[in-house]
Amino acid sequence: MRYKKFLVTGGAGFIGSAFIRYGLHHLSPEKIVNLDLLTYAGHEKNMEGFLHDPRHLFVRGDICDRELVKKLCQDHGIEAIVHFAAESHVDRSIQNPAAFLETNIRGTFTLLEVIRELPHIHFHHISTDEVYGSLHEGYFNEHSSYRPNSPYSASKAASDHLVRAWGHTYGLSTTLSHCTNNYGPYQHAEKFIPHMIMNCLQSKPLPIYGQGINVRDWLYVDDHAEAVWMILEKGKAGEVYDIGGETEMRNIDLLEMLIERLAARTSQDPKNFRNLITWVADRPGHDLRYAIDCSKIKTELGWAQRHTLPQGLEKTIEWYLQ
Ligand SMILES: NC(=O)c1ccc[n+]([C@@H]2O[C@H](COP(=O)([O-])OP(=O)(O)OC[C@H]3O[C@@H](n4cnc5c(N)ncnc54)[C@H](O)[C@@H]3O)[C@@H](O)[C@H]2O)c1
Repeated sequence: MRYKKFLVTGGAGFIGSAFIRYGLHHLSPEKIVNLDLLTYAGHEKNMEGFLHDPRHLFVRGDICDRELVKKLCQDHGIEAIVHFAAESHVDRSIQNPAAFLETNIRGTFTLLEVIRELPHIHFHHISTDEVYGSLHEGYFNEHSSYRPNSPYSASKAASDHLVRAWGHTYGLSTTLSHCTNNYGPYQHAEKFIPHMIMNCLQSKPLPIYGQGINVRDWLYVDDHAEAVWMILEKGKAGEVYDIGGETEMRNIDLLEMLIERLAARTSQDPKNFRNLITWVADRPGHDLRYAIDCSKIKTELGWAQRHTLPQGLEKTIEWYLQ
């Protein structure tokens, strides 16, 4: 492996924990220090299967704590930081944007400042397709303009700009990836797919924004994890990689697919779940469509999605049923 000792931020969250689990199972990292504040979104349970792995060290702390980050890097001979930690829920960003500016912008700034002092460390930044804004036709790619529309995406866009500028100005080794919507085990119940599964199982309303016609592209979380490991292994410093599922769905169609599968799996009449659908007022500034052209990472690094949406949903439903 190009790097053996990693500091992962946000590794008790949904994608960060999948990334660590994937690396420990399939690759040979010597050390993964996992720095996570355990906000409402982080859970010890998300680290099941690797919490006590001798190659993994969990540290509860804040990415805005510069001295802590620097000490962890120095004490453990860190070679690469993989930065997942963030406030990540758009609806919360509309209610309370301040937390998003603090963690997503100041937190990223703090990590970059540590790397400025320890410039041998590579920095990989996890971003989102939402920084590109809403799309009517075609696909976003690595050259698309930034047009963030929510406080969440604006804070992620700002952090992307810091990464680019710190790389360019201070000659730091950085890579950045934008990914579309992830789904899979261990995702917080506030997000679309887990929320719908849990509410079906508890016969609670299934709230759908607006007319349910917003389109998202869905990627199984382990496929995202593998993409990030490939960027760390084979990516070029200074480059941006867009990662997508190439599986676009309107929210209402995804919900229908979920209902069909969940009903079949639990031997229920899908009508019981369908009757729970509740139309709610649209999210302010709701982006209509996101979609990514991920041909760069496919051709340059040889990455490909391993899960179709039905396969990924099957695994996800199974996990939530457990
Ligand atoms: N979920 C998606 O569909 C998706 C898609 C594209 C990109 N992303 C990006 O991927 C990253 C991870 O997303 P996720 O869905 O796993 O989020 P998540 O909300 O599940 O996890 C975030 C983790 O960060 C931790 N954290 C928050 N603030 C912290 C701080 N100040 N210091 C240390 N740890 C802190 C939380 O405790 C939590 O464990 C984010 O950067 C997000 O923007 C997510």
